[in-house]
Amino acid sequence: MSYALEKSARNPFMNNTVVATHPATGVAAAPPPAYLKALAPLNPEEIRTAVDVIKADPQLGPGALYETIELKEPTPAAFRDHVAGKTLLREARINTSHRDRPGVWKMTVSLAERRILTKKHFATARPAVQVEQLMDVQKVVKADARFIEACLKRGITDMTGVCVDAWTGGNFGFPDEAGRLISHTFAWLRVRDNENFYAHPIEGINAVVDIKTGEVLRVDDHGGPPIPMTEINYDPEFLPPPVPPLKPLDVMQPEGVSFTMDGHAIAWERWTLAIGFNPRDGLILHDIRYDGRPVLRRAALAELVVPYGSPERGHYRKNIFDIGEYGFGKFTNSLKLGCDCLGAIHYLDANLNALDGSVFSIKKAICIHEEDAGVLWKHWDFRIDRTVLRRGRKLVISCINTVGNYEYAQYWYFTQAGEIKFEVKATGIVNTNACEPGKPGKFASELAPGLAALIHQHIFCARLDMAVDGSQNSVVETNTYAELVGPTNPHGNGFYAEETVLKTELAACRRANADTHRSWKVVNPGKLNHVGKPVGYRLHADNCVTLYLAKDGPSGIRSSFARNHLWVTPFREDERYPGGEFVCNSDGHDSLAEIVKQDRSVENTDIVLWHCFGLHHVVRPEDFPVQPVMSAGFSLAPAGFFNLNPSNNLPPTVNSASKLAGTAKEGCCS
Ligand code: CO
Repeated sequence: MSYALEKSARNPFMNNTVVATHPATGVAAAPPPAYLKALAPLNPEEIRTAVDVIKADPQLGPGALYETIELKEPTPAAFRDHVAGKTLLREARINTSHRDRPGVWKMTVSLAERRILTKKHFATARPAVQVEQLMDVQKVVKADARFIEACLKRGITDMTGVCVDAWTGGNFGFPDEAGRLISHTFAWLRVRDNENFYAHPIEGINAVVDIKTGEVLRVDDHGGPPIPMTEINYDPEFLPPPVPPLKPLDVMQPEGVSFTMDGHAIAWERWTLAIGFNPRDGLILHDIRYDGRPVLRRAALAELVVPYGSPERGHYRKNIFDIGEYGFGKFTNSLKLGCDCLGAIHYLDANLNALDGSVFSIKKAICIHEEDAGVLWKHWDFRIDRTVLRRGRKLVISCINTVGNYEYAQYWYFTQAGEIKFEVKATGIVNTNACEPGKPGKFASELAPGLAALIHQHIFCARLDMAVDGSQNSVVETNTYAELVGPTNPHGNGFYAEETVLKTELAACRRANADTHRSWKVVNPGKLNHVGKPVGYRLHADNCVTLYLAKDGPSGIRSSFARNHLWVTPFREDERYPGGEFVCNSDGHDSLAEIVKQDRSVENTDIVLWHCFGLHHVVRPEDFPVQPVMSAGFSLAPAGFFNLNPSNNLPPTVNSASKLAGTAKEGCCS
């Protein structure tokens, strides 16, 4: 079960290929199915073709500003036909705004025919904020006389070190902001080159900027405590020599990796899937199958909202949607071998559109590798002193997104026991504010004298387009109850799990319940396992958080999807985002909470699960100056999908590189 990593020469057009060959036979492991190529992200040439088509459009022409250019993913029916052998023509999905006109155009373009297929104008929509615009906002704010004056009041005479973060502005009904793409900024001071400016919040100054025109509409000066000036750094440039490092810990796969890749398609163990990517979602997984049996049609994070708990000064506006308002894809890191990624790594680059329609590439954007997963299963039959153990391995597909002060590293894990796990690790720098030393107030905690961080949450929504053994699925909720003491339970020990089918969208708006160990299982009522039960996959929702925003408040309405931990909708091609399609300064009218009011049937049909989970963050001093990773996630585990443990019959392995500590050249214990 070991394979060699080599670049394939089989296909001269595909230099992004990893082939695993069996060393005993030299035979290549089964490649991923060729039909998965239809799900690969747009390549640079395709992005350029889409831009050319739009530039030729008389209505948009050269004034178009490109928010998103992505693969228009095939419909389930079109993809099924493609799997059956029918050719699938590639199409692009594009959102543009226009330099001189309001709104957003949503279009589809045939790449083969080089023409616009559909075009719809959303007159009141605002596009997502683009990377290029973040620095522009800082520039105009720092040059604004009102802002300079407010800084001067706080003793800042040189504007060089002032850092302005372009937060999105939400929708608070200010007349001068109506209809505009608004940023409501927060500011910090970098006191010398390369220093950590988040240690020095400039409290109480918020500029309101029209991002598109670059106009500073107003500068709100709420006053506030002085700037904390103590330096607190994480960059080694400013730190004393570190403690001696630990000894090297190498991950070696001397015979190569065990996955096979063909472009964006991958096969590992009995799993196959395609890896997608777009400017908004970032990493996407398509057509996930185990032994050819479908489990998920598509999986990705669809939104992340970060509500902050302080109603004071300008902080009440901090309620940011990192995916819908900025886009995870465009803020994806270029990863470094041996730092971000350890072991035998295969990378995929990401190709994206810039605001002007040019193509930019993020090298090494997606990391694919294997990790040891500890003991997979074990049993010692002590009567006969016989032990059987299998050590586990997992396939990891990951990327890291930086949005402002925070990093979000996302990891999809595939196990040999048929599980799919998702983990997001939040790191980076907590958002800071100034306080009177010793008095952070009830909505913040003090990190260092005069420096505080607000209570906040990171609530993710994963959109899981399920396909458990086919497209006809239902959701079953499981709750565990104690049996009433009586004739059926005379000793009071009885408890049992009860299953309820969630039949419609409104019935499927669900919250976690620790008292009943509530969980949700996606089943295929048409496919039965060997005990006559529908095959299923269970969602283990282990990181549910409670939203505290008032239901009818401006941020509460826009974040309404975070109120439930589970939503279920029938699949619709255009229902992709729980906070709505166009989130910047939105009113929440097309959010998931509105969509489910149709109360459509979600029983025995093609369904999408929306799972909200995350981190509830009461900030500690140890989260500063840089936050050690905090994890949240969920898992999808087979629940009657197989007739027995699918990893029951793995070949035995004993790792020959393992040795007793102290027997190495420089042992630990001598
Ligand atoms: Co946090």
